[in-house]
Amino acid sequence: MLFQTPSLVSALCFLYPLFPHPVAAVWPAPQKITKGDAVLYLNQNIEVTYNGAFIPYTYGYTPSGFNSKEIVQAGISRALTGIFNSKFVPWILHKPGAKYEPDLSEQEWLKTLEIIQTAEDDPSAFKPLAGEVDESYNLTLSETGEVKLTAVSSIGVLRGLETFTQLFYQHSTGTFWYTPYAPVSIQDSPKFPHRGILLDTARHFFPLEDILRTIDAMSWSKLNRLHVHVTDSQSWPLVIPSMPELSEKGAYHPSETYSPEDIEKIQKYGAYRGVQVYFEIDMPGHIGSVSLSHPELIVAYNEQPYHWWCAQPPCGAFKLNNTAVDEFLEKLFDDFFPRIEPYSAYFHTGGDELNKNDSMLDEGIRSNSSEVLQPLLQKFIDAQHKRVREAGLTPVVWEEIPLEWNVTLGEEVVVQAWLGGSTVKKLTGKGHRVIDSNYNFWYLDCGRGQWITWENGLPFRTGYPFNDWCGPTKSWGLIYSHDPTANLTAEEAKLVLGGEVAVWSETIDPMNLDSIVWPRASVAGEVLWSGRIDENTGQNRSQIEAFPRLTEFRERLVKKGVRASPITQEFCVQGEPWECEFAM
Ligand SMILES: *[C@@H]1O[C@H](CO)[C@@H](O)[C@H](O)[C@H]1NC(C)=O
Ligand SMILES: *[C@@H]1O[C@H](CO)[C@@H](O)[C@H](O)[C@H]1NC(C)=O
Ligand SMILES: *[C@@H]1O[C@H](CO)[C@@H](O)[C@H](O)[C@H]1NC(C)=O
Ligand SMILES: *[C@@H]1O[C@H](CO)[C@@H](O)[C@H](O)[C@H]1NC(C)=O
Ligand SMILES: *[C@@H]1O[C@H](CO)[C@@H](O)[C@H](O)[C@H]1NC(C)=O
Ligand SMILES: *[C@@H]1O[C@H](CO)[C@@H](O)[C@H](O)[C@H]1NC(C)=O
Ligand SMILES: *[C@@H]1O[C@H](CO)[C@@H](O)[C@H](O)[C@H]1NC(C)=O
Repeated sequence: MLFQTPSLVSALCFLYPLFPHPVAAVWPAPQKITKGDAVLYLNQNIEVTYNGAFIPYTYGYTPSGFNSKEIVQAGISRALTGIFNSKFVPWILHKPGAKYEPDLSEQEWLKTLEIIQTAEDDPSAFKPLAGEVDESYNLTLSETGEVKLTAVSSIGVLRGLETFTQLFYQHSTGTFWYTPYAPVSIQDSPKFPHRGILLDTARHFFPLEDILRTIDAMSWSKLNRLHVHVTDSQSWPLVIPSMPELSEKGAYHPSETYSPEDIEKIQKYGAYRGVQVYFEIDMPGHIGSVSLSHPELIVAYNEQPYHWWCAQPPCGAFKLNNTAVDEFLEKLFDDFFPRIEPYSAYFHTGGDELNKNDSMLDEGIRSNSSEVLQPLLQKFIDAQHKRVREAGLTPVVWEEIPLEWNVTLGEEVVVQAWLGGSTVKKLTGKGHRVIDSNYNFWYLDCGRGQWITWENGLPFRTGYPFNDWCGPTKSWGLIYSHDPTANLTAEEAKLVLGGEVAVWSETIDPMNLDSIVWPRASVAGEVLWSGRIDENTGQNRSQIEAFPRLTEFRERLVKKGVRASPITQEFCVQGEPWECEFAM
């Protein structure tokens, strides 16, 4: 081909010579947005009201109670503090030497931020089941400096405040903050109610500060569920006061544990930001670390060769026909559930990758046949889910429980799909509510090579060149291409509550957590908030439209202290979207 056809996007870009990006760079994209090009300045004198009551701007406001006003007031403080503190002078979004800033000669100031919440919060707003809280909001910013934010719930107010912060930049003089986009009008609501990250704290431990920072970045991306895969065969970091031996023997080190106070702190921190933290204790497989304190309950712990007994070392599964296991779980749940229930609607009982061979080593079973094991597993799930429900929580399981083991589940049970292909369709076809974590798209840990070692000779040749099972790496473009409701009927699509990106932590620890997770989790966040299809055009969202918004959002993450990866080279961040576009 001799020349490239200029795309529509490149043509449109020439209409915005001063601020070349095609839309105000809000991430995730609002359902509807219009903006102008007038400049308005912001300072701490903006008068903020919430349902008519004046809210003083307090730097770093710490909420003291759990109610709508405290949540909103803390949200306002974070929003304004975030704008002032992040010091985001956007030179990096513009060509070297370009004029990108307003001159300071005529300053029009933002006068008021009027927040109206149109309904009272239901108590479930702070730990909702999917669909229980209305997160929609409308935001307008007039050319004369009046901002109006309306939402049905306090959580919707928080979502609107996040959008508000993304309209602002710092002036390079260092003492002025402005938006170049007035007037702005936004109408926004999420496509899916469940928009999450799964964080595995068992293969590597993550200190509180890493988890809290992750929650912050989630709230900036309008993600609303943190699924903590808190235990596994590798370690048991969870302190259970009535069973102290579990973490004393099961944690990697006493410093790598979560006390009840830590758990509460994480959950509250999330709840104040509209991020529900819920926990998974994976069972009956992936539970080997219990063997370190209760060997009598577990089979196949650290059995070798591990791949006959489980997916990765050390193996270990509950004995499926042992009443002591049931008593153990009763005691564990009685301790844990009342503490998490105030802030969680869900509890995940796991259920992935149970290897049938494990029960061969169980003196009470000695079989790997489905006919023998299936009824035992059904009984196990029934008993444990009964306890979950009685504690006021809704059970979540991995897809193998219904699809591979044919276990019958309660109607309200949510199934997390991960194996890709048509499993979301199969599950919704059977009437299950589904969270989609398709590993071909949304496993953020994948594609970075094997962490297991291979002996010389045949194993070496088998493993070479040591890629992992779920490669290739999930680039932001691939993550963005995934529609959790692809190939579903309208009826089936209604059962998809949303999705979670997975952060399995074999080779992720606090050193690389941010760069693995961000901004790719935000990319799935846009699919889940805005939808893969842009309802204004009926078309798939375009990488070329998303790109300048995502590069800008990534800069905002970095300015706010998250070590997010670059998604492109600096030339492209400074360039027009079409300059780094592959055209045919
Ligand atoms: C936002 O505006 C639309 C259109 O006027 C309206 O239908 C909707 O109820 C508004 N939502 C909120 C939260 O105010
Ligand atoms: C079970 O163990 C046998 C060896 O005894 C092995 O051949 C088979 O692959 C194992 N099954 C699974 C599912 O790992
Ligand atoms: C399970 O245990 C019960 C009671 O000990 C026993 O009667 C039953 O045969 C066991 N089931 C299997 C499949 O081994
Ligand atoms: C069950 O065990 C037998 C004997 O070890 C083995 O040959 C077979 O592959 C196992 N079945 C499964 C499903 O792992
Ligand atoms: C589940 O049902 C399918 C289809 O009927 C069957 O092929 C499979 O063996 C069953 N699995 C178990 C564990 O019973
Ligand atoms: C949808 O169906 C197509 C064609 O069968 C398949 O290639 C694709 O993987 C499916 N997508 C999902 C998300 O299931
Ligand atoms: C969106 O992209 C998918 C492939 O990722 C394609 O199958 C589908 O037809 C596209 N939808 C529209 C509305 O263009």
